[in-house]
Amino acid sequence: MNVLGYAAPSVNAPLVPYRFERREPRADDVAIEILYCGVCHSDLHHVRNDWGRNSIYPMVPGHEIIGRVSRVGARVTRFKPGDLVGVGCLVDSCHHCSACERGLEQYCENHATLTYDDVDPHDRMPTYGGYSEKIVVSDKFVLKIPDGLDLKGAAPLLCAGITTYSPLVHWHVGQGSNVAVVGLGGLGHMGLKLAKAMGAEVTLFTRSPGKEQDARRLGADHIVISTDETQMAAVKSKFELIVDTVPYVHDLNLYLPTLALDATLVLVGFLGGLNPLLNTVPLLTGRRSVAGSLIGGLAETQEMLDFCGEHGITSDVEVINIQDINEAYVRMEKSDVKYRFVIDMASLKA
Ligand SMILES: NC(=O)c1ccc[n+]([C@@H]2O[C@H](COP(=O)([O-])OP(=O)(O)OC[C@H]3O[C@@H](n4cnc5c(N)ncnc54)[C@H](OP(=O)(O)O)[C@@H]3O)[C@@H](O)[C@H]2O)c1
Ligand SMILES: [Zn+2]
Ligand SMILES: [Zn+2]
Repeated sequence: MNVLGYAAPSVNAPLVPYRFERREPRADDVAIEILYCGVCHSDLHHVRNDWGRNSIYPMVPGHEIIGRVSRVGARVTRFKPGDLVGVGCLVDSCHHCSACERGLEQYCENHATLTYDDVDPHDRMPTYGGYSEKIVVSDKFVLKIPDGLDLKGAAPLLCAGITTYSPLVHWHVGQGSNVAVVGLGGLGHMGLKLAKAMGAEVTLFTRSPGKEQDARRLGADHIVISTDETQMAAVKSKFELIVDTVPYVHDLNLYLPTLALDATLVLVGFLGGLNPLLNTVPLLTGRRSVAGSLIGGLAETQEMLDFCGEHGITSDVEVINIQDINEAYVRMEKSDVKYRFVIDMASLKA
């Protein structure tokens, strides 16, 4: 099927309208008319080839997709035309490795297929993401959107939501846990909301003094300006878990002393070598850990969506037209977004 979207023609180039072919639905496929797509900082990393993984161009980014089912293949039983559904960062995996068998498709040992900037394992066609009219996805990788959630605000749950939910669950955050989130952007604001809803006492570490009022509204009990040594010293040995969402290389050594005994700092933002190097002294003297976490598996993503449905949690979004995507990237880079851009895909037809 012929589809209109927006694509980056080459590395770091502005996005422009782009027509491309998607496959006709296979027997296990769901065809979706896209209503909204969130704009993740990863979209910018992919367009710029920041992670050196040989990005594929033209690239249609977007992995926070909300839409309505238009057609289903013959073997699909979980969905029917008209259903409201979501698609996140993954559209396939090997289904049989030990990670896939545990429902942890994001850690597939044989390479999970990304929603864009990847190659479909069946037909070797490039995958194209959600900045487009329609998408075709195998039914296992399609999520149900709970009734009652605002659809614009639900789009970012598919990446920002699950990426912060998964470590909170894995490290057993619950009533009274002391949790901190580093960085108040798309992921960070979902981290505050989700940790608060799980019953935690929540602290935000931010470089940006202007964000205090918003942070409290979003669920932070305390705000610590990470560049202020006195404020950092006041939270020594306090946190059971720190979820670090900062997208670029930064000094983790500032945060390690604020972890309690046996506590963990989990990186979800930055991929790459640390600079400055990690000082291991706080690790050994407090049995502290530094860890990483990648999005979430399909079952956990559905669990997160249902949790958000029960608690009425959505993202705080700024809705944009697709024509404004390049400007949105510039603003995202300056942390000038409250707190997620979401593209209204009706604007594609304008
Ligand atoms: N692990 C995963 O599965 C996964 C999933 C999705 C996204 N990601 C990655 O997570 C990162 C965050 O994504 P996002 O969409 O939340 O980005 P975002 O909306 O741009 O937010 C990032 C926040 O980090 C802080 N920050 C930005 N630059 C910084 C710097 N140089 N030093 C210190 N703090 C800085 C800012 O918060 P303050 O102004 O409050 O300091 C900013 O609002 C990206 O790298 C993205 O690729 C990972
Ligand atoms: Zn993302
Ligand atoms: Zn696998």
